[in-house]
Amino acid sequence: MPAPITCVEDLRRLARKRVPRAFFDYVDGGSYDEVTLRANRDDLARIALRQRVAINVEQRSTATTLAGEAATLPVALAPTGLTGLNWRNGEMLAARAAERFGVPFTLSTMSICSIEDVAGFVQRPFWFQLYVMRDRGFAASLIERARAARCSALVLTLDLQIQGQRHRDIRNGLSVPPRLTWANALDIARKPAWALGVLAGRRKSFGNLEGRIPGADSLSTLSQWIAGQFDPTLSWDDVEWVRKLWGGKLILKGILDVEDAKIAAGIGCDALVVSNHGGRQLDGAISSIRALPEIADALGGGTELLFDGGVRSGQDVLKAVALGARGCLIGRAFLYGLGAMGEAGVTSVLEILQRELDVSMALTGTRDVRQATPELLRLPFDWASAAQALPLRRAA
Ligand code: GLV
Repeated sequence: MPAPITCVEDLRRLARKRVPRAFFDYVDGGSYDEVTLRANRDDLARIALRQRVAINVEQRSTATTLAGEAATLPVALAPTGLTGLNWRNGEMLAARAAERFGVPFTLSTMSICSIEDVAGFVQRPFWFQLYVMRDRGFAASLIERARAARCSALVLTLDLQIQGQRHRDIRNGLSVPPRLTWANALDIARKPAWALGVLAGRRKSFGNLEGRIPGADSLSTLSQWIAGQFDPTLSWDDVEWVRKLWGGKLILKGILDVEDAKIAAGIGCDALVVSNHGGRQLDGAISSIRALPEIADALGGGTELLFDGGVRSGQDVLKAVALGARGCLIGRAFLYGLGAMGEAGVTSVLEILQRELDVSMALTGTRDVRQATPELLRLPFDWASAAQALPLRRAA
């Protein structure tokens, strides 16, 4: 009998067995020494939830709105590159799992399935994530395609003008489409279920870029290609340009510093994502959860905040919401589910997070997730600046 799935880590273990190493590591890893990657998880773990008793918590709700859209859970699926190399048609299936569960799905520019593939597969409008490429005409055409596909929000990523080095990707010779070197052919031979799915599928390269960007179908390594295509000159003027061209709901992703948060809020956007790109970019940056209360305090509730970086449980979601996020984006967590079990695995991750959130709400005396405040938490003593920024004294 297969072992029961109790938590996201169980799905991670299964994904590791099923997905070839180069693609599993691309999901699992971070940049350089992975200091920030670890800090995201460690700092979440260091926050304590306050156990409260004898509060009637029979009626509880995890429902909220994210960028104005109803969600059954304060969670959205993050934009993640190469999702369809974890499972055939991975983006389409993850979008359907999100739709059925009632949470937003975000399609990455660097997806395997195209905008049109996903739009033809689900009813619920999804969010589209944009990277601004050197070729601004191409960025404009992606915006047009997102509009034509009725995407309900554009998520503009600001923290990947150039790519932080991921040692694991270099060691694994990560390339898209997958290249059959001796080392990865051996690895793939041990993962026949993956090969029958993904390698036999229609798309094995970037669905949004095929035929449109030179080299997108036959690149040597992912990082070399990104270095050639992504635009290091990206500035706030470009953000303004995107905002005007798109004209719809705009979410700015990759804000970690209070100064940037103020500028972003000043430009006018529907939400900010407090993020260090899952510890995949600036290694040595502070954890996202440490940045969150400072940014929440600086913006004073004027701009909706979303959060990502290390979320693997409902307890993590509750901590982020209590510290000022309207909701969390999950990247690795849903990709582990997808790599392990396809669509059912993504659904399983959402169910796990919802159960954990619900139980944690009950045990902290929280009936409605929208009412979560910093008073639910005990922050680590050395987070003095955050503690000063928050009305924690009332709880003492
Ligand atoms: C792309 O967004 C990546 O982090 O690899």
